[in-house]
Amino acid sequence: MDKDIITLAIETSCDETSCAVLRNGREVLSNIISSQIDIHRKFGGVVPEVASRKHIENINLIIQEALDEANITFNDIDLVGVTRGPGLVGALLVGISSAKAIAYALDKPLVGVNHIEGHICANYIEHKDLEPPFTCLVVSGGHTYLVYVKDYTEFEMVGRTRDDAAGEAFDKVARALGLAYPGGPVIDKLSKEGNPDAIPFPRVYLENDSYDFSFSGLKTAVLNYLNQAKQKGEEIVVKDVAASFQQAVIDVLVDKSIKLAKERKTDKIVIAGGVAANQGLRELMEKRGKEENIKILYPSIKLCTDNAAMIGSAAYFNYIKKNVSDLYLNVVPNLELI
Ligand code: KG4
Ligand code: ZN
Repeated sequence: MDKDIITLAIETSCDETSCAVLRNGREVLSNIISSQIDIHRKFGGVVPEVASRKHIENINLIIQEALDEANITFNDIDLVGVTRGPGLVGALLVGISSAKAIAYALDKPLVGVNHIEGHICANYIEHKDLEPPFTCLVVSGGHTYLVYVKDYTEFEMVGRTRDDAAGEAFDKVARALGLAYPGGPVIDKLSKEGNPDAIPFPRVYLENDSYDFSFSGLKTAVLNYLNQAKQKGEEIVVKDVAASFQQAVIDVLVDKSIKLAKERKTDKIVIAGGVAANQGLRELMEKRGKEENIKILYPSIKLCTDNAAMIGSAAYFNYIKKNVSDLYLNVVPNLELI
């Protein structure tokens, strides 16, 4: 492609209002993220109605900030990308309505983006030479997938969680331990000081040939451990519970990812989604990757959690493949990757 494509991207699927400007899908000119975490923390989780209202209050300011930081105006935009799902219906609607208004006013193409695809694309921004095919572990607050990425917009779903997502398990266990929302980063930090072998929590592998995951049994095992310790009046060492729980999650995530990469003979495993920020997961994956001669890639922390730059990257690659939306684009709150 000879001419640069400037993409304006909007992400409002959960509790971050974000807008980004990208050049050609991999170069970030701006990526403004306004987090509502402090507002939702006092409720112990995201309150959908509050999230929608905050997005409405913020969205125009964030869009303007993204344009200013990228040093462009609306007239420089070639393409508008926006998250269409999965996510909270009211929150998604704020982003989609704004994106449609901009695309209509500028008479430019609109691309509705799958949020999970966006998480995978964060890696194209971080690693400029990364190209499919590769094995990808997607671990976010709502989803856990093992995916064979055939091409930029083509995916083969090989495994998924049958119950809780990995991030959801982190958040629920953190809550049981009386830790702040979101629980993932707090458990990650505590785990560095705790003993991962202190409590033998179960590793759930399911059937021998299965690439699926299940984390609800582990969550229940942690809750039972806490209840029994309380009943017996035993001391609960929070950092040891956190470290032992985290180890049980990442052991399974890493084992299944390595197994798939070997089976498909891919020389790379790419990690995506909020839980890709987890230090323990990154370290174990890298250790095992080294042993098996598999390269491990993940985005920087800012690109792991929700942001519009990853949506802009996914919008660009879909635009190149002519997967363009029209102004009837609607939100799909329970959208799957494929
Ligand atoms: O991808 P994301 O920002 O939002 C969704 O699309 O769901 O993921 C948020 C999830 C939350 O469950 C959060 O606890 C988890 O990612 N998370 C982490 C870490 N940072 C965020 N989990 C483990 N370790 C972390 N460092
Ligand atoms: Zn996300």
